[in-house]
Amino acid sequence: MRIPIIAGNWKMHKTINEAVQFVNDIKEKVQGTDVEVVICAPFTLLLSLKEAAAGSNIKLGAQNMHWENQGAFTGEISPLMLKDIGIDYCIIGHSERRQYFAETDETVNKKIHAALQHGINPIFCVGETLEERESGKTEAIVKSQIQNGLENISGEDMNKIVIAYEPIWAIGTGKTATPEQANEVIYQIRETIKELYGETIYTEVRIQYGGSVKGSNAEEIMNQEDIDGALVGGASLLPDEFVQIVNF
Ligand code: 13P
Repeated sequence: MRIPIIAGNWKMHKTINEAVQFVNDIKEKVQGTDVEVVICAPFTLLLSLKEAAAGSNIKLGAQNMHWENQGAFTGEISPLMLKDIGIDYCIIGHSERRQYFAETDETVNKKIHAALQHGINPIFCVGETLEERESGKTEAIVKSQIQNGLENISGEDMNKIVIAYEPIWAIGTGKTATPEQANEVIYQIRETIKELYGETIYTEVRIQYGGSVKGSNAEEIMNQEDIDGALVGGASLLPDEFVQIVNF
């Protein structure tokens, strides 16, 4: 039985006051849900959010990290520092990081290893561009992102990873993949996991969909057989929308 996981990815949004207000607005409304609720916030907010979310079922995640524990890496944050705050998750390999900050499958793989070493659960993102989709390459691209990103990750560690399928053309565009399109790729990802890790992990791995998820389309997306959650950008900034998605 896979527990659904709804994670908000706030990207580069919100001040401390706004973030704390958000948690205060939603925490009672998401209490008692069977869904795992995560907010992935900018680094500057995590400590205040941790305090604001104390005693609630809201878990916290970061949106990126370096793979080293410390060193001369100006502007970076290490897994050790994130563990120090006590976060549960870290988004790794988001398409915006691949696109604007030169992340590759190789750096993504290093970060996944580092996160796991520190007990941080990766939300590992994959997805194709519009051009790749239109030229029929979706399956091959996503498969190679999965294989490369998970290189030398053990089965035991695989249980701690959440995969997020985010077609790049559906991010922030208002263009959602149809639930069937999303499910089809997620089904293929699960098949790849079966090839790599066998039957048990294949049935247990949680795979989210991300890309223009909102309150009004969450239910039909979540009702798809292979979709176990959502990674939500824009709509996760709005308390009512986020609550509606969590309570799909
Ligand atoms: P939107 O929900 O704004 O399309 O963003 C999706 C996303 O990138 C989540 O990581």
